Parts: sequence; C-alpha cells; structure tokens
Amino acid sequence: MQLSHAERMAASEQSSIRRMFDMAQAADHDLVRLEVGQPDFSTPEHVIDAADRAAREGHTGYTANAGIEPLREAVATTLETEYGVPTTPEGVAITAGGMEALHLAMLGLVDPGDRVLLPSPVWPNYRTQTTLAGGTPVEIPLSADDGYALDADAVIEQLDDRTAAIVLCTPSNPTGRVFEESAVRAVVDAAAAHDAAVIADEVYLGLTYDREPRGIAGYVDNASQVLTVGSVSKTHSMTGWRIGWLAGDPSFLHGISTIHESTSSCASSISQRAALAALTGPEEPVKEMRETFARRRDFVVDRIESIDGISAPRPQGAFYAFLSIDVPGTATGIATRLLEEFGVVLAPGDGFGTAGEGHLRLSFANSTERLEVGFDRLETAIETW
Ligand SMILES: Cc1ncc(COP(=O)(O)O)c(C=O)c1O
Repeated sequence: MQLSHAERMAASEQSSIRRMFDMAQAADHDLVRLEVGQPDFSTPEHVIDAADRAAREGHTGYTANAGIEPLREAVATTLETEYGVPTTPEGVAITAGGMEALHLAMLGLVDPGDRVLLPSPVWPNYRTQTTLAGGTPVEIPLSADDGYALDADAVIEQLDDRTAAIVLCTPSNPTGRVFEESAVRAVVDAAAAHDAAVIADEVYLGLTYDREPRGIAGYVDNASQVLTVGSVSKTHSMTGWRIGWLAGDPSFLHGISTIHESTSSCASSISQRAALAALTGPEEPVKEMRETFARRRDFVVDRIESIDGISAPRPQGAFYAFLSIDVPGTATGIATRLLEEFGVVLAPGDGFGTAGEGHLRLSFANSTERLEVGFDRLETAIETW
C-alpha cells in the first residue's frame, strides 16, 4: 500500500489522549489531570548536573548515528544486568526516545501491504507508525475478564506470511498488564516460524511492581527474532530529554542507520550524556520513584474497588489503570463531560482501539492528594450522572 502525502497526514491522526490534553490545557477551571502519561517528578539532580557539564565541556556537536559509545555500553549493561537481556553495544542504537526506536523498527521491517499485529487495547502510536510504514495494523482484542492477559492463541491465529511484526507492550500502556512469560514464548516461537519480528516495547519495564522485571529477549528461545525498545523517559522521569534505544540484531541496526541518519541524524548529544549519568549514576532516585508509583497503584486499586460503577484489573506495571465505567455514553463523550462538568481528566478508552470503548485510562503519575480529589470527583460524577 503506497500512501499519498494526504493519506500520510490523515494517518497521523491526533490521539484521543492528546485531544483531551489540549482541552485540559485550554480550560480555565480547576482540573485534576489524570490523562497525562509522564512522571510528575523532576529529573534526578545528578542527571541535570551531567547535562550542564556536557554542554560546558563542549559535547554539543553531532554524535555517531547510533549514539555515543559509553551510552551504548551502558544500555547494553542495563539490559543485561537489570532485565536479563544479553546485549553488546553493537546491538544497541540510541534514538530520540523510544518513539523514534519504534518508528525506525517499523520502517526497517514493514513492506507495503504487510500486517502488524497489535494486541489491543493498544497504544495508538503503533497504529500510526504501522500505517506510515505502508503496513496494515491488525488489532487483536484482549479481554478485560482475564485482566488483558496476552491471548497467545488469538495472536498466533492471525499470523500469516504477510505479517511483518507483532508489537508486545509489557508492562502495557494502557492496561498496566505484564504479559505471562509462557504466552510471550508461544507468540515469539510462532512469529519465528513465520519469519515475523517481535517488537518488545519495554519502556515501562523498570516500573514493574510485583515481580522482577525480565526483558522478553532474555527469556525466549528465539531471541534473535526480538527487537527491544526502551528509554529513560518513564523510569528516570526524563520524557523531555528524548533518549531511547533500539536493541537487537546488529546487522538489522546497521541496516536502519541510514533511515536514522535521515530522520534525526542522532539523538541530542547533551541528552545522551545525561542518559549516561542516569544509567550509571546513583540508583536511589529511580528506586524512590518506583516505590512511590507502587504505593499510588495500591491507593488507586483501593479507590476503584470502593466506587460502584467502575472497575479495572490491578495494574502490575507502568502507571495506568484501564477503567471500565458503567455510565451511558461513548468513552470520548464520558471523558469530555468528566472534564467539563466534574473537573477530572482521563483519557478516553476508544483511542486505544476497539477494545477500549466504554473505558477510560487513568494515569497515576500524579500525587496521592490529587488522585484522592480526582477519585472524589469521579465518584460524584457517577452518582449524579
Ligand atoms: C507504550 C509506549 N511506548 C513508547 C513510548 C515512547 O516513549 P519515549 O519516546 O518518551 O521514550 C511511550 C510514551 O508514552 C509509551 O507509552
């Protein structure tokens, strides 16, 4: 499928999360903002110091397309020691956030007309990235009844020889689900049999609450099939610094370096030095943020249980709960009314695919005090709807 420029622009539809964000920015009444997918902490001090030093010491020019060597080494070490994914620096390309890593992976994998399988509810940008690469996104609905567990059979049923890739986002945005290793193994084995790649979006892996985080490429048999996407955005509260990575087969990474050169040349040199400090410096700030998110997760789960009319599977990672809400209306209509009349902002579930209708994504990247006010408003809304 070749896209015209107009189709390409139409494919880049604004996500419902962004739409809600823009409405909230424009509003002039007090809002509790629970739609935003970024940590509410400041970047750790030692990271900011490293960026300051980098700029003053003259690390202000282009870097190699694949990033500075010490950062590629630090990412490889982090993947291996923290997530059990054996990696060498040659198998790591530094990108402008996990977002660019995903975009490059799609451009490197997808031929016009190819299919990309997306377990759904699904983060909307995968759909756009698939379409921009000329492919067709295929959603595979997961069920709220089993907490959005990965349905390996449903994914495998959709695999065919036109399937270029399967995207597995775990912990998941928007459900917070961590996929079972046995289901992931089955999917990766089947993908290998069809020569399809598995894009493991693990930008939230460092925010896993009830178990040790393990990267997919570290525990499957066909690890060469897997491309791992990660970033410092969520784990280190560095969304604006724009540093992520794509890790996998060095020859694939070499292949996409020309696309990388023609999109961003390289990730910001100063931010790369900052990310190096983030990955090699004190771990305490990251640990503290993770523990805070885990406490908020418990708070959110308790409040959801206490309110009639909403329910959600217990998030196992990331900072989202995917609420089923029992009031009439479309997800977008409900979210809009919650914003305008009740002063609480959530992201409409329909933006996360067909499986998201009737749902709202709540981000707990906000203080417990604000979450409390937000839940009070949600409760009032449901009572008076
Ligand atoms: C599931 C998922 N993947 C990737 C990204 C991209 O993150 P970044 O480009 O900030 O690293 C995000 C950001 O919201 C996300 O939610």
